[in-house]
Amino acid sequence: MIKMDAVLVGFGTVGQGVAEAIQMKDQLFVDRFGEGIRIVAAFDSNTYAASKKGLNPTELVRTKVGKGNIGKKRPETIPEMLSRLDYDVLVEMTPTNIVDAKPGIDHIKAALNAGRDVVTSNKGPLALKFREISKLAAKNKCNLRFEASVGGATPVINLASELLRCERISSIRGIMNGTCNYILSRMESEGLPWEPALREAQQLGYAETDPSYDIDGIDTACKVAILANAIMGNDVTVHDVERTGIRGVNLEAVTLAAQDKKVIRLIGEITEKGVEVAPRLIPRGHPLSISGTLNTFHIQTDLAGEIIVAGRGAGRHETASAVMSDLWVIMRTKEPNSHSS
Ligand SMILES: NC(=O)c1ccc[n+]([C@@H]2O[C@H](COP(=O)([O-])OP(=O)(O)OC[C@H]3O[C@@H](n4cnc5c(N)ncnc54)[C@H](OP(=O)(O)O)[C@@H]3O)[C@@H](O)[C@H]2O)c1
Repeated sequence: MIKMDAVLVGFGTVGQGVAEAIQMKDQLFVDRFGEGIRIVAAFDSNTYAASKKGLNPTELVRTKVGKGNIGKKRPETIPEMLSRLDYDVLVEMTPTNIVDAKPGIDHIKAALNAGRDVVTSNKGPLALKFREISKLAAKNKCNLRFEASVGGATPVINLASELLRCERISSIRGIMNGTCNYILSRMESEGLPWEPALREAQQLGYAETDPSYDIDGIDTACKVAILANAIMGNDVTVHDVERTGIRGVNLEAVTLAAQDKKVIRLIGEITEKGVEVAPRLIPRGHPLSISGTLNTFHIQTDLAGEIIVAGRGAGRHETASAVMSDLWVIMRTKEPNSHSS
């Protein structure tokens, strides 16, 4: 029997989705590992709940939705509690902060220093401090997994770093932000100028009230930095990524592109030349000309050639899918005679 006691830090869209998925997939884990995942503690920004026997995921979500918090006030800081609680894996799902990566970085370091595995959806620590936390994980012989950080239902990190191990990957290009793609698609299909298209995306809940993180390409740049480090072995932060967002894309440019059977898409790219985010002209029909909110990754390798991964980049259950796949792999590494690494 393989035991997996999890602490969830961050209990918003992703945290609640993960709790629901742990409940939904319990039997699958029991059948394979003899035990399901137990949530032994969960934290939001102000409160927490803990139980050595395991918290009921449905109850946790119900409490959070009903009362706006998870439980009681914390007696100590979260890093202090992560250092003394008994658990196997931290699932870190607090907001992305690309100024100093806090609070996620402190949570991740506390768990790794305590010898615990970490799964995270939080881009900040990975886009700013990738080397530091991967070295800490290696030093403490811990797993550090982060499939959810570059998109929910687009399993590109695990595909590239595990299934494509024998390949030389020469480039990864992708549509990594559904909000920008929605705006560009609407400009093209409806002849909408940029600002009404953004307002529409905000009304539909695709874009934040402050949309700059998406439309200035910051979100895509974070994902580019993470992929460059995790898959291509680079040592970059989000600040090393050359970045142009979509504010400068006007209707005239979109119309001219259409006359040439092309579309404009915000593309994140990791190539031998470097790391960049910029609007690019893409021929219609090319996998990166996709419309709407889907994310798409185009991976170029020496043996397989072109590989395309497309899926929903965001969403409660989509992102939980990526977190669950990381938890599954960690449980596999605990099996006797496991050869996974
Ligand atoms: N949403 C997606 O589809 C998606 C997809 C891929 C990756 N991600 C990434 O996953 C992470 C979580 O996203 P989300 O959409 O779930 O965000 P969210 O809905 O805003 O939830 C964030 C959670 O973190 C908690 N939190 C905030 N500050 C905290 C602190 N200092 N200490 C402890 N907890 C704190 C919040 O507490 P309160 O509940 O008390 O406010 C909330 O529970 C982000 O880094 C995001 O970039 C999200």
